[in-house]
Amino acid sequence: MKMSEMSIVKNPNWWRRRTTLERTLTIISAFAVIAVISLVIGLVAVILSNEVPSEFSTESSNAEALHSPPKISTNDPNAQKSKPTKKDNICFSTECVHTASSVLSAMDKNVEPCDDFYNFACGNFIKSTNIPEDKVSINTFSEIGDKLQLQLKQLVSENRNENEKKPFKLANFLYRACMNKTLIEDRGKKPIESISESLGGWPAVLGDTWDEKSWSWTETVKKFREIGFSMDYILDFSIGVDLKNSTRRIIDLDQSQIGLSREYLVKGLEDKIVKAYYHYMVDMAVLFGAKRSLAETDMLDSINFEIALANISLPSEKRRNNTALYNPYSVKELQGNYSYINWLDYINALLPKELSITENEIVIVSVPSFFEQLGPILEKTPKRTVANYMMWRIHGFSSFFLNEELRKRQLEYSTVLSGREEQEARWKECVDITSGSADSEFDLGLPISVGALYVRKHFNEDAKSIALDMVNGIKNVFENILKEISWMDNETRGSALNKLQKMTTHIGYPDEILNDSKLEEYYKNLDIDPEKYLESVLKMSVFGTNYAFNKLRKPVNKTDWLSHAKPAVVNAYYSALENSIREYFFYVYIGLILYLLKKRGGLAVFYTSLSTFLPTSTVLLCIEQSLCIYTFPNSSHSASYGSTGKVSSL
Ligand SMILES: *[C@@H]1O[C@H](CO)[C@@H](O)[C@H](O)[C@H]1NC(C)=O
Ligand SMILES: *[C@@H]1O[C@H](CO)[C@@H](O)[C@H](O)[C@H]1NC(C)=O
Ligand SMILES: *[C@@H]1O[C@H](CO)[C@@H](O)[C@H](O)[C@H]1NC(C)=O
Ligand SMILES: *[C@@H]1O[C@H](CO)[C@@H](O)[C@H](O)[C@H]1NC(C)=O
Ligand SMILES: *[C@@H]1O[C@H](CO)[C@@H](O)[C@H](O)[C@H]1NC(C)=O
Ligand SMILES: *[C@@H]1O[C@H](CO)[C@@H](O)[C@H](O)[C@H]1NC(C)=O
Ligand SMILES: *[C@@H]1O[C@H](CO)[C@@H](O)[C@H](O)[C@H]1NC(C)=O
Ligand SMILES: *[C@@H]1O[C@H](CO)[C@@H](O)[C@H](O)[C@H]1NC(C)=O
Ligand SMILES: *[C@@H]1O[C@H](CO)[C@@H](O)[C@H](O)[C@H]1NC(C)=O
Repeated sequence: MKMSEMSIVKNPNWWRRRTTLERTLTIISAFAVIAVISLVIGLVAVILSNEVPSEFSTESSNAEALHSPPKISTNDPNAQKSKPTKKDNICFSTECVHTASSVLSAMDKNVEPCDDFYNFACGNFIKSTNIPEDKVSINTFSEIGDKLQLQLKQLVSENRNENEKKPFKLANFLYRACMNKTLIEDRGKKPIESISESLGGWPAVLGDTWDEKSWSWTETVKKFREIGFSMDYILDFSIGVDLKNSTRRIIDLDQSQIGLSREYLVKGLEDKIVKAYYHYMVDMAVLFGAKRSLAETDMLDSINFEIALANISLPSEKRRNNTALYNPYSVKELQGNYSYINWLDYINALLPKELSITENEIVIVSVPSFFEQLGPILEKTPKRTVANYMMWRIHGFSSFFLNEELRKRQLEYSTVLSGREEQEARWKECVDITSGSADSEFDLGLPISVGALYVRKHFNEDAKSIALDMVNGIKNVFENILKEISWMDNETRGSALNKLQKMTTHIGYPDEILNDSKLEEYYKNLDIDPEKYLESVLKMSVFGTNYAFNKLRKPVNKTDWLSHAKPAVVNAYYSALENSIREYFFYVYIGLILYLLKKRGGLAVFYTSLSTFLPTSTVLLCIEQSLCIYTFPNSSHSASYGSTGKVSSL
């Protein structure tokens, strides 16, 4: 049920290739990295304050900038009331004590940090935290997330008057459509049933009356595209930035997006999870009116077809080499090599009407071996089986937006898969769907509309410029330090400085989000009907796909506000929610990193202990998005933090 290809703002090349599990793990890991880094620095601060107080307090001019608090004027009343008090360089203000205590309470001091740093830093948090039934994971940001959710609820549930501009009404319409459970129950399965009918119906449900002759999978994919379903169930079609020339975009063909990770499916029906998936398929077909015995045989064929697709797909560990995944073909060559599809016709049908390609168009085939083997599989598989598979996929997807009967069965399956035992409160689910912050499972939503509402209501304008000043200050100091440190070789220094120059800062939100006419222009082709939930979701999906595909011939604009609006807005939420002391705290973190970098040649963030549970890409992701630095520790005791460390990347 991945809908990521319909995302409006997406990173098509990296994020999309992760499995749902990997995505979840990456997000969790990213939080873990941040948490661990914070804790390490907190720890170092404690050690330093005992160990080298005089040295630290007489730091040179560079670091002095970091000691003096930034000029912050926030709305937060506390910021005015309690200024940090200076006493032996230890801050005793309410916020400092509070923050320090929250850091300490997560640590397990009975664990020897050199043996098991993760448990030392996070042990108590893990021990004292219960994951609620309706959640799959929880982290130290959950509290902020919960506050944010309430604010968003208020924004999207507020009825907007008739004359309000469209971008601001859309979010409310979608939220209402999602919240109106009475109406959703009344409509029952009808919304998907009428769509299904227009597609020739689900063979398992129709039985013998299903018409095989007039059916073809390529025509069905084209209809899916028009209606708003994923077109990637058989093969993945997308448009992304050309890896070899990042100024342009290119068509990308990839292995199919299957309904359960390849890692499970290839184990076959013996596997517990695969079996649960099969029973889920059968039960859903029965709920849609299939006879159980027919559902069992039809869905068995269907899952075997899906297993065959999984079998010819590359596992994610073999998809890390971008060069191997970059195989340019002209459409003509494609046709010569994989003749089971009329490629020119297929691609042109999926592209928006304004766009078309010729047989000289170059497309990237990520996994040629998949396409070699797909032809024979499609040839030997009966149409009925392929149709059952495709119809199953859209029914499975749609059920999330339909009545409780279907959703209950869906939850049973997801309990097996993820351990989540209860549905989230409805309003939370609807807020997440509307704001586009739902689990990566559904990458839909109206993040730009909701972001615009949020920024107008809650974002403190000053905070943006303060944060910008802060980052620029940090960049300057960092540059000076890079120039001074002696242990770094010239080449690394050069590339680090170069990288620093190129770093663009996206803080808070792009100014365009405040411009009504830009927002109206962006949303002009989207309509949402508060009485039709599923249909509105599908319209959003068509809108998102058109938006993404229409970029094919447009040059890549790295500073395009739309591509930064979503992450930026999420950051803005956090900045606005966090009180000023956290900003000071952030300053101190960075200050300490810089200080240690200069004095001791590096900072040990215990990369080795991190690397045991984090994929490298996570750390890299963290480096791209913020100023995270890691080094390899080579110390058995705190006194020699990172003395032989190196900055691996900036
Ligand atoms: C749900 O939809 C129905 C039909 O449009 C409408 O009459 C009713 O007021 C809606 N309920 C809520 C809570 O919005
Ligand atoms: C990259 O793409 C642009 C736009 O299509 C083109 O003008 C340019 O020559 C390409 N650069 C390279 C190195 O191929
Ligand atoms: C998986 O592929 C291999 C060849 O690549 C084939 O021998 C095997 O039968 C396939 N397994 C399934 C379950 O399709
Ligand atoms: C990546 O793939 C290319 C082409 O298949 C190959 O030449 C190269 O050695 C691979 N790189 C790595 C690191 O495996
Ligand atoms: C198949 O693809 C290869 C590699 O791009 C190409 O050299 C070859 O000409 C293609 N075959 C046909 C029949 O077009
Ligand atoms: C490093 O670069 C500086 C200035 O660019 C230069 O003066 C110095 O000789 C270089 N050192 C080495 C070892 O290359
Ligand atoms: C808002 O955007 C429109 C259209 O892009 C532009 O003409 C206008 O100058 C912008 N307004 C402001 C205040 O930036
Ligand atoms: C890129 O986007 C920015 C911000 O939206 C805009 O100001 C700029 O003109 C765009 N550049 C191009 C080449 O379209
Ligand atoms: C780490 O320390 C050990 C023992 O002190 C030393 O032998 C080793 O060379 C060091 N490793 C690095 C990368 O400096």
